[in-house]
Amino acid sequence: MAVPRIVLIGPPGSGKSSVGKRVARLLSIAWRDTDVDVAERAGKSIPDVFFDDGEAAFRALEKSAVATALAEHDGVLSLGGGAILDPDTQALLERSAVDGAQVVFLDVSLAKAAPRVGLNRARPLLATNPRQQWKALMDARRPIYERLATSTVLTDDLNPDQVAHAIAALE
Ligand code: S3P
Repeated sequence: MAVPRIVLIGPPGSGKSSVGKRVARLLSIAWRDTDVDVAERAGKSIPDVFFDDGEAAFRALEKSAVATALAEHDGVLSLGGGAILDPDTQALLERSAVDGAQVVFLDVSLAKAAPRVGLNRARPLLATNPRQQWKALMDARRPIYERLATSTVLTDDLNPDQVAHAIAALE
């Protein structure tokens, strides 16, 4: 049973994937992204899963992909922004932290995240009114991100390399 060394959580546009790759490179360990795992399992893109099968089907695939990744992966793991909504996933993340994983919340303001997620067709939950939808997501999820995190990095004034260095230094 492996334990990830670093798990990145946070809303869309916080840089979980771009930062995750960089942290893995800095520490010479593997990087894995549960959005990629979900798309592989589904055999189609995440927008297609949402469109064809609905959000509930996506969340079920995501829950299983996250549980597998948390059990198998011992590098850096970037989670989809909504993965932390599931109570069983929350419990697994708490367990990973007890077992030594750094669970890092990439905090970001609407002003910084909006240009990154605006009109991005790859994010079905933010397809119609990205700013308003992002803010609603973040308001609902912030308490969960904060509760699960062993560390928080406010990314607003940092570039991805600086965020990656801050995370690598946590170890
Ligand atoms: C989602 C975030 C996306 C992806 C899906 C749902 C969410 O991942 O998992 O579109 O609920 O916040 P990113 O956080 O990498 O954008």
